[in-house]
Amino acid sequence: MHLSTSTVLAVAVTAATTATAQVTGAKGNAPVTTGNSDTILYETSFSSSNVESGYLNFTGTSDGVGVLVTACFKGINASQPGPYPYHIHDFVVGPNENCTATGGHLDPYMRMDLPACDSAAPETCQVGDLSGKHGKVPVGVDDYCTSYVDNYLSLDPSNVGFIGNSRSIVIHNVNLTRIGCGNIVQGSTGGMYPTNTTTPGGNNVTTYPTPTVAPPIASGGATSLRASMALGVILAVGSLVL
Ligand SMILES: *[C@@H]1O[C@H](CO)[C@@H](O)[C@H](O)[C@H]1NC(C)=O
Ligand SMILES: *[C@@H]1O[C@H](CO)[C@@H](O)[C@H](O)[C@H]1NC(C)=O
Ligand SMILES: *[C@@H]1O[C@H](CO)[C@@H](O)[C@H](O)[C@H]1NC(C)=O
Ligand SMILES: *[C@@H]1O[C@H](CO)[C@@H](O)[C@H](O)[C@H]1NC(C)=O
Ligand SMILES: *[C@@H]1O[C@H](CO)[C@@H](O)[C@H](O)[C@H]1NC(C)=O
Ligand SMILES: *[C@@H]1O[C@H](CO)[C@@H](O)[C@H](O)[C@H]1NC(C)=O
Repeated sequence: MHLSTSTVLAVAVTAATTATAQVTGAKGNAPVTTGNSDTILYETSFSSSNVESGYLNFTGTSDGVGVLVTACFKGINASQPGPYPYHIHDFVVGPNENCTATGGHLDPYMRMDLPACDSAAPETCQVGDLSGKHGKVPVGVDDYCTSYVDNYLSLDPSNVGFIGNSRSIVIHNVNLTRIGCGNIVQGSTGGMYPTNTTTPGGNNVTTYPTPTVAPPIASGGATSLRASMALGVILAVGSLVL
């Protein structure tokens, strides 16, 4: 039987959204990471025509096991079909916010995308498959945030599960069309202001873009998410000082 490319794609997408499986990568399952200091911060922020704002932060944990992820997505275009998967991708965003330039998912153990992973066995998932392990962004939630510890991400540049150094975040619609993306950059201040991750470069950038810290209360086109996060910092700083 002859199958057109679009039929094969449709079948693949259907498989990706329905069947899950515990697949061991060619290089094994992902080991639990250690030594992730809670003083290290990486961040991603972006805005695209389809996503008003995406903001994720990544820090170590008190015992150094795994990475604490907070992921927020606001104002996703309701005409884009969901739920919305999001992943860590291999390369930085290309010129003109080109999400295609980010390549594929961070997958150091060569597990590959399909079949979709079983969140009950997260060590068998691609390291970068955040929504496969922790859930997709649901439809119809304008301002969605979630927080979790992912035991397989690393903040150590010598670990293959390292999330910095040219990695990026991409959010997709249910058909895996890329609807928004931003680079993962090292936070300099330990604060939570979104950084400007627009990069003039291309693939394989091995140095971090210098994060540009946004003003505490941005004016004009600033998103309410940014404003509310700024308020959060003021409150947090206030509670530390007082
Ligand atoms: C929202 O998604 C629809 C469907 O893909 C698309 O036609 C429209 O251009 C999108 N809106 C924006 C602002 O990107
Ligand atoms: C986006 O990046 C991809 C991969 O690097 C490239 O093939 C494509 O031409 C780029 N698209 C645009 C509009 O620049
Ligand atoms: C995208 O997904 C929607 C809902 O699942 C589906 O109706 C539509 O045909 C898909 N579009 C493409 C181009 O695959
Ligand atoms: C991470 O993001 C969450 C939600 O926006 C925020 O409450 C938290 O303070 C942020 N952490 C850092 C270190 O920026
Ligand atoms: C982000 O950086 C780009 C490139 O340097 C610049 O054109 C743009 O104005 C910056 N955006 C913000 C919000 O600072
Ligand atoms: C990026 O790295 C890959 C793998 O090392 C290599 O195949 C590719 O040619 C590089 N791309 C660029 C633009 O340097």
